[in-house]
Amino acid sequence: MATVLAIETSCDETAVAIVNNRQVCSSIIASQIPIHQQYGGVVPEVASRQHLETINWAIAQALEQSQLSWEQIDGIAATCAPGLVGALLVGLTAAKTLAIIQKKPFLGIHHLEGHIYATYLSEPTLNPPFLSLLVSGGHTSLIYVKDCGKYETLGETRDDAAGEAFDKIARLLKLGYPGGPVIDQLAQTGNPQAFALPEGKVSLPGGGYHRYDGSFSGLKTAVLRLVQQLEKNNTPIPIPDVAASFQETVARSLTKRAIACALDYGLSTIAVGGGVAANSGLRKNLQAAAAEHNLRVLFPPLKFCTDNAAMIACAAAEHLSRGHTSPLTLGVESRLSL
Ligand code: KG4
Ligand code: ZN
Repeated sequence: MATVLAIETSCDETAVAIVNNRQVCSSIIASQIPIHQQYGGVVPEVASRQHLETINWAIAQALEQSQLSWEQIDGIAATCAPGLVGALLVGLTAAKTLAIIQKKPFLGIHHLEGHIYATYLSEPTLNPPFLSLLVSGGHTSLIYVKDCGKYETLGETRDDAAGEAFDKIARLLKLGYPGGPVIDQLAQTGNPQAFALPEGKVSLPGGGYHRYDGSFSGLKTAVLRLVQQLEKNNTPIPIPDVAASFQETVARSLTKRAIACALDYGLSTIAVGGGVAANSGLRKNLQAAAAEHNLRVLFPPLKFCTDNAAMIACAAAEHLSRGHTSPLTLGVESRLSL
C-alpha cells in the first residue's frame, strides 16, 4: 500500500494527482489546449513555459483536494519519458525538488506505463496478464502486460499514431485541434459506409499481412485524395460522412489487430488506454468483437483516457510498494521504448 503524489507534464496538460494504491485522492488537470489551438497544434516552447507557470498552483490544488498532509504521502513521482523534453523537465524537476524537501522517495515513470495503469483506477481487481491497447497522440501499441514493470510490445504503428491520424484529418478538414473529439462528434451524424477507405495493413515480405502492426499514413493519403477529388468536382465535402468513414476504418483496423493478438496469446482481457480510448467508434467496434470472441474489454473513464497524473501516480504506487525507486540523477528522454 502506498500513497504517491505524481506530476505529468509530457505534452500539453499540467497534471498533478495523489493516488493511494488504485484510489484517486485528488486529480488536477490544467489543459493548455485553448492556448495551442491558435497554432493548430502543440508548440513545445509554449508548453514548457505554461507548465512552469501552472505547476506550483496544480501541486497546491492536488494537496488541498486530497485533504492529505505531506506526512501521509509515501513518494513523489513524475513522467520522465517519452514526451517533449522541455515540458518533461518541468514536471521531473518539480518532483525531484519536492522529494528532496519532503525527504520522500522519488520515482520516474514511463508515460505509456501510466496509460496502462489508467485502467487500474476503475478496475481495482484487474491484474496481469492482459493485453493493453494503447492508442494516443504519440503511440499505437499492443502490449502484453505480464507484471508490474514487465511489458512486451507485440504490435505497433509503422508511421502515424492513431491520435495523430485523427489530428491530421481534422486539420485537413479545417476542424481545429485536437482532432479526435471533434471527428468523434461529427461522425455521430455521418454514414460510416459512405466511403471505402484502406485499413492500413502492413505487408509481409513473403506475402500476407502483419497480424499486429498497422499503418495510418495510407489511410490519411486516401482521405486527402478523396477531399481533393470532391473539391475538383466542385462537390461540397460531406464532412460528417468523411469523419464517420475515417473513424470506422481506424476502429475496424485497431479492433482486428487487438482481437487477433489477444486470441493468439491466450489473453482474455483487453485494457484500452490513451486519448483515442475515448473514441465512441473504437469502443463500439471493440466491444462488439470482444463479445463475439468471449473476451473482456475494459476502457478507463474518459477523464483517465487522455493525459492525467492519476495514472502516473497509480503506476508509481505499485512500483513503490514493491520497493522500486529512481535515482535523483534520472533524466528525461523524448523517445524511450517501454
Ligand atoms: O493520451 P493523450 O491525451 O496524449 C498523448 O499521450 O498523446 O492522447 C491525445 C490524442 C489526440 O491525438 C486526440 O485527438 C486523441 O487523443 N483523442 C481522440 C478522442 N479524444 C482524444 N481521438 C479520437 N476520439 C476521441 N474521442
Ligand atoms: Zn498520453
